[in-house]
Amino acid sequence: MSLAGRSLVSINDVSNGEVEGILSLANKMRDSKGSKLDLCQGKILASLFFEPSTRTRLSFEAAMQRLGGSVIGAVDTKTTSLSKGESIADMARVVGKYADIIVIRHPWEGAARVAAEYAGVPVINAGDGSHEHPTQTLCDIYTIKKARGKIKGLTIALCGDLKYGRTTHSLAYMLARFGATIVFYSSPGLGPPEYVLRKLTTEYNGVLRRPTGRNLSSVALALGGSGKASATLDAIYVTPGTSHDLALIPDLRAEVDLKGVDALYMTRLQQERFSDAQGDTRKAYPVVDKGVLKRKELKRALVLHPLPRLDEIACEIDADPRSMYFEQAAHGVAVRMALIALLLGMQQAEAPAERTLPEVVTQPEIYRSDLGSRCENPACVSVHEARYIAPEFVVCGNKPLTLRCVYCDYEKQPNYVGNLKSRIYYACQDIRAGQIKVSNSVFFDSEEKAQERGFRPSAKAQQR
Ligand code: CP
Repeated sequence: MSLAGRSLVSINDVSNGEVEGILSLANKMRDSKGSKLDLCQGKILASLFFEPSTRTRLSFEAAMQRLGGSVIGAVDTKTTSLSKGESIADMARVVGKYADIIVIRHPWEGAARVAAEYAGVPVINAGDGSHEHPTQTLCDIYTIKKARGKIKGLTIALCGDLKYGRTTHSLAYMLARFGATIVFYSSPGLGPPEYVLRKLTTEYNGVLRRPTGRNLSSVALALGGSGKASATLDAIYVTPGTSHDLALIPDLRAEVDLKGVDALYMTRLQQERFSDAQGDTRKAYPVVDKGVLKRKELKRALVLHPLPRLDEIACEIDADPRSMYFEQAAHGVAVRMALIALLLGMQQAEAPAERTLPEVVTQPEIYRSDLGSRCENPACVSVHEARYIAPEFVVCGNKPLTLRCVYCDYEKQPNYVGNLKSRIYYACQDIRAGQIKVSNSVFFDSEEKAQERGFRPSAKAQQR
């Protein structure tokens, strides 16, 4: 199978079979034992890192050099014309003329998607704000498969800052798609965003369980530590479902017995994305140390971390054979070599021998209009670059009507919907609002906004 000319903005841009193909090629790259190949001779990779990075940037650059290509790059917005107000779209258009492939890390969520829309060459998302980090997920999956031989049927706990930790968002989608059970152990107030949970349940066939009691207490309490600064970790399970409908029914059998986890994926507190008021969270952050790893539920658990770490993984466990985080980082070169070679069309991916699990169950409708509601996530690229990006959403829920931004995935619930044909607007709960096709709709946050755009109120509300 060919991935030539494609971009990787979200982990959901590649199918399970394509992921298998990338990882299988990564094995071959790894077997080349670091020798220089000439697969990408004459090709140039643009490495644009507008946030700090050690692993992702250097492993991409090492990967391109090992493939025989060369690298150009920028490591700070201040050294580029973005600091003069140039748009990401214009930068991407220009860099796409200098390089054959672009890797971009940017603090704005959706920045890589915009770059991919305008560059004319493959674009790889190396992390966009708190949103996604798909190539880290490829390294994570590669590491788990190497150690355990499979993903399907494993129980994998994601722990720590699951709100701002972009690696956990991409990884959760991938784990659900491959049929793993996910346990989210989040630090207080740092649970996974609603949009992640909604996607897992409505698009990736997951069944959500919010358990209480003994089934989670053992590991959660151990991770949370003891004493004044202990963290009461929230836990949510997502287990592979059998039908889409199941995902919509709250599971009242909340007692899912957690016998143990196969991997514990720790993350650091993403302090750079916090306001000062939230800084106290650090004191009650979970820690994995020798004591935690003695628990029987963690006997076979691999310890993973995208790195860099702060204090959440004690150095005393570095030599434990279950600690995989440095190996995980080392795999970055082979995995990224495979990805670059595939997107540049210099290699074909092998189709998987086994049929992979069914993936996206539903394809939600897309709504795009520059007349009405805009994304409300202050970190969204569509907010920062509103001068040329028209708001675009998927309609991801009906009761209440919920829109999800295609750039950053943030959800919002508009209050009014206007009919483009009649120029009449209705409250979203009005039965007539539900009868307007999405292609004829404009969504508004307030009546004032609807009226500013020349829409008239409906005669009388008819409640749904
Ligand atoms: N895992 C990861 O993204 O590390 P860097 O920030 O060092 O690239």
